[in-house]
Amino acid sequence: MINLTDYGIEMWNEEKIADFRRTLLAWYDREKRDLPWRRTFDPYKIWISEIMLQQTQVVTVIPYYERFLDWFPTVKALADAPEEKLLKAWEGLGYYSRVRNMQAAAQQIMTDFNGKFPETYEGISSLKGIGPYTAGAIASIAFGLPEPAVDGNVMRVMARLFEINYDIGDPKNRKIFQAVMEILIDPDRPGDFNQALMDLGTDIESAKTPRPDESPIRFFCAAYLHGTYDKYPIKAPKKKPKPLQIQAFVIQNKKGEFLLEKNNDGRLLGSFWSFPIMETNFIAQQLNLFEKENDVLETVSQKTLFEEDYQLKPIWSERTFSPIKHTFSHQKWTIELLEGFVEKAELTSQKELQWVSPDNFDNYPMATPQKKMVAEVMKQQRR
Ligand code: ADE
Repeated sequence: MINLTDYGIEMWNEEKIADFRRTLLAWYDREKRDLPWRRTFDPYKIWISEIMLQQTQVVTVIPYYERFLDWFPTVKALADAPEEKLLKAWEGLGYYSRVRNMQAAAQQIMTDFNGKFPETYEGISSLKGIGPYTAGAIASIAFGLPEPAVDGNVMRVMARLFEINYDIGDPKNRKIFQAVMEILIDPDRPGDFNQALMDLGTDIESAKTPRPDESPIRFFCAAYLHGTYDKYPIKAPKKKPKPLQIQAFVIQNKKGEFLLEKNNDGRLLGSFWSFPIMETNFIAQQLNLFEKENDVLETVSQKTLFEEDYQLKPIWSERTFSPIKHTFSHQKWTIELLEGFVEKAELTSQKELQWVSPDNFDNYPMATPQKKMVAEVMKQQRR
């Protein structure tokens, strides 16, 4: 257990803590948002909502949440779900490892917990993909356990409340905020307490456009009272995502079907279908190798490389497309599209390839960059 005074934090007395809990929960009772996952104590449903909400806003999550529970109403249904359907359920949310981990956790519940969702913090934490935040959220909301759920929102609110001079973006500081929350959390209504802070942190006490004068807890807030609100939370700027040039090959056969490839696991778009793509750096590297091996300077282009790699011989079109941009958390892609048509559509390479009519794209899980590419191609085709 850490000593808060070592971190320059002066904790309130019991009376003030009790007053704070009353004030925050009274506000929550008046103002709380009516959200689908707030109408249940089912840990399975709360788990789904919390995972979805980790990178995605509430309004976007709601339809995904409803459909996910419709498709996979129980832990068992999730454990048994075919991969394609699982990815389809997550399509557009991004960070697909989350849903794969969820399935692994569901399988763990079936085998290690007899199909019953674990009811202790330790049990919940033992599940794949569940870290301290999610474990705290499920334990408090579904089971009424006095466990904090400390995410960026909660850290921001705590940093302002106590003028905490530690970077909220640095994982090793999380324990400080956790310790503060362990003292503050209301043992009688821990789930509501956590969710009240989530609501407050996403709106009135948001990072970009806070409205401190409207905060129900402003008279507890050291930064508000001392005029230092703008200084908190302390947060070092994030690293910029790395720019990557990607080449995508938009290849059609005579039936108007497009060549799609299932990407191998481990890559960013693992298990998703997309037009064949190559990183331009990779292309440059291959071209270099190719030239060296041949010992003569051949003018091989990315088109030739595609032809070699995919064992197809397209007639390349002159048509140009707008480059597609997509930012992941750590990479920023600019995708150039190159169009070609093949006479001989036989697929002989070792890759997992299929000819697919656009009417049928819905049956192939596609990540957002691929959806953007499809939209661009369809726009051009209508011209
Ligand atoms: N963000 C993360 N968890 C949430 C919840 N339970 N309610 C609202 N917003 C959230």
